[in-house]
Amino acid sequence: MTHVLDGNAVGDRIRGELADCIDELAAEGVTPGLATVLMSDDPASETYVSMKARACEEVGIEGIHHEVDPDAPAEELFETVDRLNDDPAVHGILVQMPVPDHVDKRRVLRSIDPGKDVDGFHPENVGRLVAGHPRFKPCTPHGVQLLLEAADVDTEGKDAVVVGRSDIVGKPMANLLIQKGPGGNATTTICHSRTDDLGAKTREADVVIAAAGYPELIDGSMIGEGAVVIDVGVNRVEADTEKGYELVGDVEFESAKEKASVITPVPGGVGPMTITMLLYNTVKAAALREGVAVSLPGEGRPVEP
Ligand code: GUN
Repeated sequence: MTHVLDGNAVGDRIRGELADCIDELAAEGVTPGLATVLMSDDPASETYVSMKARACEEVGIEGIHHEVDPDAPAEELFETVDRLNDDPAVHGILVQMPVPDHVDKRRVLRSIDPGKDVDGFHPENVGRLVAGHPRFKPCTPHGVQLLLEAADVDTEGKDAVVVGRSDIVGKPMANLLIQKGPGGNATTTICHSRTDDLGAKTREADVVIAAAGYPELIDGSMIGEGAVVIDVGVNRVEADTEKGYELVGDVEFESAKEKASVITPVPGGVGPMTITMLLYNTVKAAALREGVAVSLPGEGRPVEP
């Protein structure tokens, strides 16, 4: 029997534990605040940001939303970020990506106070992750790590293949998998669009993490018997539905499920975990900034390493 992992259930459990942390912060007079900034009129980005805001509200985090006209000069975005950096009610800042072409994306990532960078994308936070003492782990790979833990998948000594080399998922995912300690210690290969014979690599893997952004790139013939398959992809493909599209992952679910011991669906797998880990990082940011000791799920009391 293949175990189909329920990201909503695992996410809900962790959100419940975060709500307890938020109560502990409230007892010290602290309400965690997350500022979201949207400089885009892309409907998918709008949807993601509103989902993040709603999740904040549900768990007791103050959501502060800012919109910058996508045609406005880049400086308007940087001024917004500067104000949020200086605002003591704001513990976490998230600028929804992608930003318009006339805005320097790298400057955006550098402009956020690293202590408020709940995405974990600032070069200081990337460096800390690579060096093995992360402050904010990027949300999606961290969510994958906790999903694997929830399914009792021990990565130690396993062959893991990450398909995709993005800054948001592929690279940090591989970095987490090679770290010493629980959730790491995996022998890790990163594959990408120039990889020769992708299937030969994925078929040998004990754990496949698909994060390439291509609909149903990986089918059952590319999965080894008994492998653990985590699908990070969220791709809109045309379909005869009310919205005119449907969401599919990077894995062809039905054929991969025939081979896998554990697999995540799309939607309902990794997606809910990503937002949960954003809440997690916001609670951590508030606890660190305000000097309140709370017990984070799977981590214990956060201290600056
Ligand atoms: N766009 C797509 N995923 C993400 C994410 O995790 N964080 C931000 N800031 N933008 C995104």
